[in-house]
Amino acid sequence: MYSKEQVAELNQLSEQLLKSESSFSEEERAIALRKVINYHDWRYYVLSEPVITDFDYDYLFKQLKELEAQHPNLVTEDSPTQRVARALTNEFESVSHLASMLSLENSYNLEDIEEFHKRVTGLTNTTEIEYCVEPKFDGASIALVYENDMLVRAATRGDGTVGEDITNNAKAIPSIPLSAPFSKFGIYKVELRGEVIITKEIFEKKNAERIAKGEKGFQNSRNTASGSLRMKDPNEVAQRGLEAILYHVSFAEDANGKNLIAEKLLSHYSVIEMLYNCGFKTPLKELKVCHSAKEVDDFINTWDAKRLIFNIETDGMVVKVNSLKMQQQCGSTSHHPRWAIAYKFAAKQAQSKLLKVEFQVGRTGAVTPVAKIEPVPLAGVTISSISLHNEEFILEKNLLLGDTVIVERAGEVIPYIVGSIPDLRNGSEIKIDFPRNCPSCNSPLVKPEEEAVWRCDNVDCPAQTEERAIHFVSKDAMDIDGCGSSTIIEFIQRGFIKNIEDLYRLPYDEILKLEGWKEKSVSNLKAGIEDSKNRPLWRLLNALGIRHVGVTTSKDLAQHIQTIFDLEKMSVEDLTNIEGIGPKVAQSIFEFFQNESNIHLLNELKNFGVNTANRPEDSISKNNKLEGKTFLFTGSLQQFTRDRAKQLVEENGGKLLSGVSANLNYLVLGEDAGSKLAKAKKIPSIVVLTEEEFLKMVE
Ligand code: IVH
Repeated sequence: MYSKEQVAELNQLSEQLLKSESSFSEEERAIALRKVINYHDWRYYVLSEPVITDFDYDYLFKQLKELEAQHPNLVTEDSPTQRVARALTNEFESVSHLASMLSLENSYNLEDIEEFHKRVTGLTNTTEIEYCVEPKFDGASIALVYENDMLVRAATRGDGTVGEDITNNAKAIPSIPLSAPFSKFGIYKVELRGEVIITKEIFEKKNAERIAKGEKGFQNSRNTASGSLRMKDPNEVAQRGLEAILYHVSFAEDANGKNLIAEKLLSHYSVIEMLYNCGFKTPLKELKVCHSAKEVDDFINTWDAKRLIFNIETDGMVVKVNSLKMQQQCGSTSHHPRWAIAYKFAAKQAQSKLLKVEFQVGRTGAVTPVAKIEPVPLAGVTISSISLHNEEFILEKNLLLGDTVIVERAGEVIPYIVGSIPDLRNGSEIKIDFPRNCPSCNSPLVKPEEEAVWRCDNVDCPAQTEERAIHFVSKDAMDIDGCGSSTIIEFIQRGFIKNIEDLYRLPYDEILKLEGWKEKSVSNLKAGIEDSKNRPLWRLLNALGIRHVGVTTSKDLAQHIQTIFDLEKMSVEDLTNIEGIGPKVAQSIFEFFQNESNIHLLNELKNFGVNTANRPEDSISKNNKLEGKTFLFTGSLQQFTRDRAKQLVEENGGKLLSGVSANLNYLVLGEDAGSKLAKAKKIPSIVVLTEEEFLKMVE
């Protein structure tokens, strides 16, 4: 960025300004102050090698601020004093990226890298390929546009085509230069991509400060970075200690509008060097140019160990074809460039102590052991509670209370216990006794031979009633407004609810007398309960909490009956004849409708006016655009939630599958899609869609 001579000159200038020795005019002084402050910012925020004290830096900054306050005509757009905008942002405007922000293909083993190399060889017609391998920074993506050497726009990734304009917030990040000398490289307009991150050190420090102030700690650095980018007040953004690392030029033009990518900018390495020389933080020091898949593998392996001590969270390595010409030869899919691949590091593990095991009773009576462990940070979140599934799991893993256990969490997946470390036992460990009676109602637990789960069979078990009622009122079931899980728990404790039907005979006068309840909340609750009497049949079917019966099965069932009472007369065979219902599900439905107390519940609900019939107006498929088509969603969805995705598929007559198989028609990709995508690629009949492409299908 700065030559040796420039560094010497700037150090000297800095000293002059500190001693106020200079005989500058005011304008010259403002220029000089800006120059040295930018230089010190670069040393501090980009190089992490400051050469002056914070005290002296503050003094220089104060001088510039005062000078500009006295002479507003001396303020320039890229003056370091202009980093923090005074106004709050009300709403982030949508802006189109100059080049669409694609994601990366993920891989989890080194064989994938070899395969990637083979594919690139095929696409470029040569085996002589250079790869740049660099860390995959775990933060929030950002796109910066510089025009005529000035930062003119910063945007979040958004849907890859359109993002949110966060320019004011980006200016509050000191390692993002407000101006950069791209003109030296013949560039007039350029779009850069990078990642906004918080170093591990700063993240821990900020978290400790918040906790000391009694505030809630941040969950993990990636969420904190992306949340911080969307704050309304740039002053607050400036307090978050964010940094930006730039690793890609997605668009570059000269003053005549001529594209420079692969014309003047020739390799990824030289682009990174250029960005470094323009004053950006880049992966230049971490990057390695490799000449074979073997060299790439070796370098990734060294990083797998090194990343733990690297001060920035990384979730993998990115392998990129170095030559930009070759990158163009490879091209892109609608999801990712074919010239790059992300290698994701293996699941992260941590050690903790198994403190106790609690036994939770679910709505179907299943008793699940839940391990309470000493809280341990793992892959960005603190874990203190982990399901142990069932008794067999505890025996298989040979777990004892007091054991040191290994906890693992792969990506976004729920944490689990890999096992204990018996060598670390000191004799004080205690055997875990699985209860033989229900922890809630004390009824003896039962376990059919072929099953792994112990159950409480008592339909009036308070723990089950609680879980069942919570499920009954939930969004995907009867969707009762004004009645959340805490309300249910309170009503059960007060004896208002002993069974599901009690929801329809709540003592509203008494509820009104309770703390926290007002006329309005009671009337909302009443309205919610009344409304729920008019729900389509499938909702009631789902609300009953029949084992193995969720929304999809409930919809399948509802279409095949006139009233819910028809199910009482159906055999397992009749049920299996319904499309989408297998023998296990059929058996469970059959058993449910043979149980007298369940029929009693349904009669009660009917008497209260709850709809139990399949009405013509509830016809499930509003249209049949996706009739007969099967879908699966993978990765983190950016455009809609999983629930919405499911709803869209089902409303349009399509069906969701739970895994990749030859029966799957469409795989819809969110960000960071992983193994499902790899699997789907092996089945040629599966069509891979982006979220946007899927939305177009249902529009
Ligand atoms: S290159 C067109 N390089 O990972 C290719 N991406 O999971 C541009 N990421 O969306 C991406 N570190 O936000 C690239 N060194 C790196 C990266 C990196 C982190 C992010 C990026 C991307 C996501 C994909």
